[in-house]
Amino acid sequence: MPQALTPAREQQLRMLAARHGTPLWVYDAAIIRARIAALKGFDTVRFAQKACSNTHILRLMREQGVKVDSVSRGEVLRALAAGYTVGTGADAVHSGIVFTADLLDRETLSTIVAHRVPVNAGSIDMLEQLGEVSPGHPVWLRLNPGFGHGHSNKTNTGGEHSKHGIWHEQLGEALAVIARRGLTLIGLHMHIGSGVDYAHLGRVCGAMVELVRVVRAAGQDLQAISAGGGLSIPYQAGGEPIDTAHYFTLWDAARKEAESVIGHRLALELEPGRYLVAESGVLLAEVRAVKTQGRQHFLLVDAGFNELMRPAMYGSYHAMSLLAADGRERSLRSTVVAGPLCESGDVFTQAEGGVVLARELPQAEVGDLLVIHDTGAYGASMSSNYNSRPLIAEVLVDGGSDRLIRRRQTIEELLALEVL
Ligand code: LLP
Repeated sequence: MPQALTPAREQQLRMLAARHGTPLWVYDAAIIRARIAALKGFDTVRFAQKACSNTHILRLMREQGVKVDSVSRGEVLRALAAGYTVGTGADAVHSGIVFTADLLDRETLSTIVAHRVPVNAGSIDMLEQLGEVSPGHPVWLRLNPGFGHGHSNKTNTGGEHSKHGIWHEQLGEALAVIARRGLTLIGLHMHIGSGVDYAHLGRVCGAMVELVRVVRAAGQDLQAISAGGGLSIPYQAGGEPIDTAHYFTLWDAARKEAESVIGHRLALELEPGRYLVAESGVLLAEVRAVKTQGRQHFLLVDAGFNELMRPAMYGSYHAMSLLAADGRERSLRSTVVAGPLCESGDVFTQAEGGVVLARELPQAEVGDLLVIHDTGAYGASMSSNYNSRPLIAEVLVDGGSDRLIRRRQTIEELLALEVL
């Protein structure tokens, strides 16, 4: 939950909306740097770029020593474009890029092999297919420990209902494929979901140590373990920020136990997406209509779920501020905030399952600006062209300066794909 906007920040957002138009994504580099600094202790912080994959954000991460996780061919090419390099041979454990997935489509496989990007395999088929064409290729194993946890069922990535990872009981089989195919095992990885709590963390750490024992018993070696991502941020008022030092302490203890099993030092990785970028971003939209239908009061803005999908997809809560066009104080009113799409689910104030919720907000007028907070993660990166709406612009603020890091897409660019 963000602090109240300072007058200087309000003025900056008004200026950016006037200059670039709305809707608009605005990120603050200082917040990203502060979150990176809070993750001390981990040998590697690997940004799950699916949360926010603009190459300028990736460059900022690289400059701060953060590595990157890519989950598609496009994300691998983005990381390369942002200047990341791939570690090979003994250096593979330090690779700037790791590719994580549960399958390898043919085009991605050839890109991965050409650049020798280490692969974090979530299925045994991936190991077979990779081993066939790229002997010696460095691999991690993404394991499903048999349980998971997430802020929504859609973000729980562990347990037998999840498609993710190699099932923990099949680790022996995966190790046998690695040996037979001559692949190089770098480490074990576990990501059980997005939105962690410490109760689950203890279980995950314990499961990781048990799986390291299996590697040892199979006579194989590894150099690293990865805690995955999943660190939450306080979206709601009164929510507590995650205690990153405590988080590190728990994983460091697991690492030490794993080291005593394997007999040498192991690198410890963390792979956050949301934590690094969510609070750095806002979505700016303009109020274009205000109406009352029966007992419900609506504020309609020029951004829809094609821009910010989280409320419609998960019932996610995002704090909102109103910047009144006339600068005057407004009284509060119970309000539903919705967008322009021709679909009833295009509502930013809703619970999971599509239940529309009203929220106390300052009474809006056409021409006011609405600031939707904590949208730096899974905002722009989940946007679509639904209703033939072009992708919107992104701006990065850094201290006193601001720069356009993605221009608005044009309708001509959309139509060009269909000119055959
Ligand atoms: N590592 C792996 C293998 C993942 O699958 C994910 C997220 C992460 C790391 C980063 O998780 P984070 O630290 O951001 O929680 N669109 C949803 C979140 C989906 C997360 C998918 N995997 C949302 O808006 O909440």
